[in-house]
Amino acid sequence: MVERIQLLAGRLAGAATAASPLSLPGAVPVPEPQQPLLPRKVPGADFDVLRIRSQFPVLNRRLPSGGFPVYLDSGASAQKPRVVIDAQRDVEEQYFANAHRGTYQFGLRIDEAFEGARADVARFIHAPSADSIVFTPGTTIGLNMIAAGWAVPRLRPGDEILTTVMEHHANFVPWQQAAARTGAVLKFLPLTSDGRLDPSQFDTAFTARTRVVAVTAMSNMLGSINPIRELTRRAHAVGACMVVDGAQSVPHLPTDVTADNIDFLVFSGHKVYGPTGVGVLYGRPERLEEMQPVHFGGHMIAQVGLEKSTWSAPPARFEAGTMPIVQVIGLGAAIRWMEATGLDDIHAWEMHLTGMLYERLSQIDGIRIFGPKPEFRGGIISFRIDGVHPEDLATILDHHDVFTRHGHHCTMPLHTSLNVSASTRVSFGAYNTADDVEAFMRALQKAVERLRG
Ligand code: ALA
Repeated sequence: MVERIQLLAGRLAGAATAASPLSLPGAVPVPEPQQPLLPRKVPGADFDVLRIRSQFPVLNRRLPSGGFPVYLDSGASAQKPRVVIDAQRDVEEQYFANAHRGTYQFGLRIDEAFEGARADVARFIHAPSADSIVFTPGTTIGLNMIAAGWAVPRLRPGDEILTTVMEHHANFVPWQQAAARTGAVLKFLPLTSDGRLDPSQFDTAFTARTRVVAVTAMSNMLGSINPIRELTRRAHAVGACMVVDGAQSVPHLPTDVTADNIDFLVFSGHKVYGPTGVGVLYGRPERLEEMQPVHFGGHMIAQVGLEKSTWSAPPARFEAGTMPIVQVIGLGAAIRWMEATGLDDIHAWEMHLTGMLYERLSQIDGIRIFGPKPEFRGGIISFRIDGVHPEDLATILDHHDVFTRHGHHCTMPLHTSLNVSASTRVSFGAYNTADDVEAFMRALQKAVERLRG
């Protein structure tokens, strides 16, 4: 491990001296790469990104080229620190059993670890109790459960579901379906020209017919951070339920469901440095009581008779069948890792990198950066460059060991509104370094020169 850290440190030092100004058309000399380009909060002195990065085995493996991966796709899935991998292996090797079933030694231990993870999640998002945390397979299923189990039984023709054009399909299609099934109508909070929700439109957007407000806390394409507390206040003022897609915000920004007073929040394990196949649905206790289960079977029942059955109290009511036990326990380890690393520091570091990248990208001729200035966004930047197709760009970046996402990022309505079919996206995690930004910019320069001929 020490050797790997030294290798990485050497690479950083080398990049800092070897970095040359970009020669893209119209580029101006670039400042020192390690220097903060914008006046912004910097993480605490003990935020040691090389130490953090050293905890992620996959980022410290050599690729066939001999280099290390420059992983800039944490918005899709974050990598896992060693403690998460170890926690999952420990379950499999030491005490695996089904949860909430056996009272033998393994059964008791697994229940303790499983419910401990629930308590970890509740503490992390400031939920009023562990019972308000439902484990799901991920954000998409969680949002479907809310739309089908809470909203559909309540929506009437003419009721309004207020959402935005920046939603991920997971927070859009379930509401479209709910509207189609009930006769409710979808309405959209307008955006400003720089891709933020337009507060001047809030007064008219919320009406006496608004029943559900479904909004992302942070756009997975624009990076925009939305004013959840203000939207919730307005939703409650008209008697509506506030549903927050936290898939992109929870990994990067402190979350407080109690202070924000929201009704539902969903997020995914694999974006918070945890496993795939597990997610979280937080519901305010009275909303969970109102929500109907959409999956039926083992564990979620109180009594089963030949004629009818009754349901357990939440959260068991919404956890039918065998849960992804190992992944839930891995998620608990990921949450504890984030707490120990410090979410405020992670956020400050990612914003530092975002400001740096935004400045560098802004100097490229023919670039269109989507979304607002760095101070209004999280650690995501999507863009297009004239004459450069995002898929071609992603392919060439990959040849330089730089991993980004391209395409519509599950936000077709947003891309349509921006009049593009696809974009290139860079998204940061706690482990990214200034050297990653430099490596990306060097690869981008080569790709653009090649693609523009
Ligand atoms: N929702 C994930 C993304 O935005 C997969 O990339």
